[in-house]
Amino acid sequence: MEKAITVLPGDGIGPEVMKGTLRVLKAIESRFHHRFTVTEMPIGGNAIDETGNPLPPETIEQCKKSDAVLLGAVGGPKWDGMEQRPEQGLLRIRKELNVFANVRPVKAFGPLADIAPLKPALLENVDLVFVRELTGGIYFGQPKERKGSDEAVDTLYYHRKEIERVVKKAFVLAASRKKKLTSVDKANVLESSKLWREVVDETAKHYPDVKVEHMLVDNAAMQLVRNPAQFDVIVTENMFGDILSDEASMITGSLGMLASASLSEEGPGLYEPVHGSAPDIAGTNAANPLGMILSAAMMLRHSFHMNDEADAIELAVQEVLNANFRTGDISSNKDKVSTTDQVVEQLIYRLEDNAAAA
Ligand code: NAD
Ligand code: IPM
Ligand code: MN
Repeated sequence: MEKAITVLPGDGIGPEVMKGTLRVLKAIESRFHHRFTVTEMPIGGNAIDETGNPLPPETIEQCKKSDAVLLGAVGGPKWDGMEQRPEQGLLRIRKELNVFANVRPVKAFGPLADIAPLKPALLENVDLVFVRELTGGIYFGQPKERKGSDEAVDTLYYHRKEIERVVKKAFVLAASRKKKLTSVDKANVLESSKLWREVVDETAKHYPDVKVEHMLVDNAAMQLVRNPAQFDVIVTENMFGDILSDEASMITGSLGMLASASLSEEGPGLYEPVHGSAPDIAGTNAANPLGMILSAAMMLRHSFHMNDEADAIELAVQEVLNANFRTGDISSNKDKVSTTDQVVEQLIYRLEDNAAAA
């Protein structure tokens, strides 16, 4: 198959983890006889430096005409306090592509039980997915402004339609999995959450096989560490989903392990790891590339329907962890820390034809 992929490496560790991911995709191309046409475009801080705009029009255009978009990460201290922020580029590309459903799976990886901060017994059978609303809520509501020196406002606004479409995606996903949906909100305080609950209850009538529960966000934050195995699909507002998914990354042991798919009804999906540009380790070949690589596997599965190819990557990730090749964030032994490039090489070795045939 031939596919066109727009690649947005971004800032900090973004380009480092993207480089390894593109090597993994090359290995997939040759093993499965595909052709991926890759076009790299600027976004975030590097785009500000080059063009004065965190999301140049050429980048938007290229993304829209491709089959899928891969994004590393944006941001960094260099651009703090500037009028234009790298993160605006990320928010705008999500909006431009209308990728309203951000799917963030969280599973415990067996070999990482030794570094995950939760007790191993709590990690058994954890297999949950966040469906985070991504193009609305408090990130986008108007007014959103600084008023003079002493006042500032953000607005948490949702239209029923925005809730309906993301909630529907979550129900469809839950119906294909363990048939449990937890809707997380703050309906004891927020009007937007009361509307959210109403929409969830109405939609539930169309999915009688799915068990629905409502959970307040503060309780959900606690339940995620008390008993994460209770969850299947969690659907929630943009900012709640942002915060809870970073928290849930500790089920794996590192933010660097989590992948995501940002999906629309039609048009290209945007695939991005959950982590940021990690300025503290950028440029040191120390970043964990697995969240980015697993995001590329999600791209193969969701956008290209290449299930065998995605399975091959996920299996190789398991094997690399089993063989104890780990970057510093997931290493239990400081005398055996692999670099980003070494982890990628180990993965590619396992993906190549000869390794598969063995
Ligand atoms: P961060 O996710 O960049 O880093 C948080 C911590 O996790 C750091 O200690 C970092 O070293 C570590 N970490 C993250 N990814 C890792 C990886 N792959 N391997 C090993 N360790 C990893 O969050 P932050 O420090 O709060 O934010 C830094 C910048 O990134 C900010 O400008 C923020 O806006 C931006 N950011 C961007 C995205 C994105 O582009 N999707 C997501 C989150 C944060
Ligand atoms: C994420 C990030 C972004 C978000 C930031 C960088 C705008 O934290 O993708 O989780 O909050 O959505
Ligand atoms: Mn985040």
